[in-house]
Amino acid sequence: MRFRFVRVALALVIAGALPACNSGAPKSRTAAGQAEAQSNAGRGRSVYIAQCAACHGRDGTGGQIGPQLRNEHLRRTFAQVRDIVLDPEPPMPKLFPARLSAADVRDVSAFVETL
Ligand code: HEC
Repeated sequence: MRFRFVRVALALVIAGALPACNSGAPKSRTAAGQAEAQSNAGRGRSVYIAQCAACHGRDGTGGQIGPQLRNEHLRRTFAQVRDIVLDPEPPMPKLFPARLSAADVRDVSAFVETL
């Protein structure tokens, strides 16, 4: 009985320690990887139309202000697009967090990768 209790307690300790192993990985890479895995490009499309299309064109072919984003996936990874949206070079405006939620940034970055 007592031995069994120790085994259960040990299993709980090990299970509790497992997620901590991940914390050794570079944080930004993990965060971007998780964001990509959870992203929803379909939802990102509506974010794009509302927040990005005015400058980059409805289908990513570029506008008067923003460069084209067609085939952006050949030039930049999801993580790189996400970094640009989070911290853009002027004249691109910083839309996060005032106009875009973290989920919006994630999903719109995934959508850009489909253009
Ligand atoms: C007010 C206009 C404007 C809006 C709105 C805007 N952008 Fe931009 N964006 C720009 C401009 C201008 C650049 C070029 C910046 C530079 O010179 O590096 C740019 C650059 C980019 C780039 C890098 C392109 C490359 O390969 O060099 C990405 C990716 C991008 N924008 C995505 C987005 C997304 C996604 C949104 C919506 C959430 C958005 N932009 C909203 C104007 C805009």
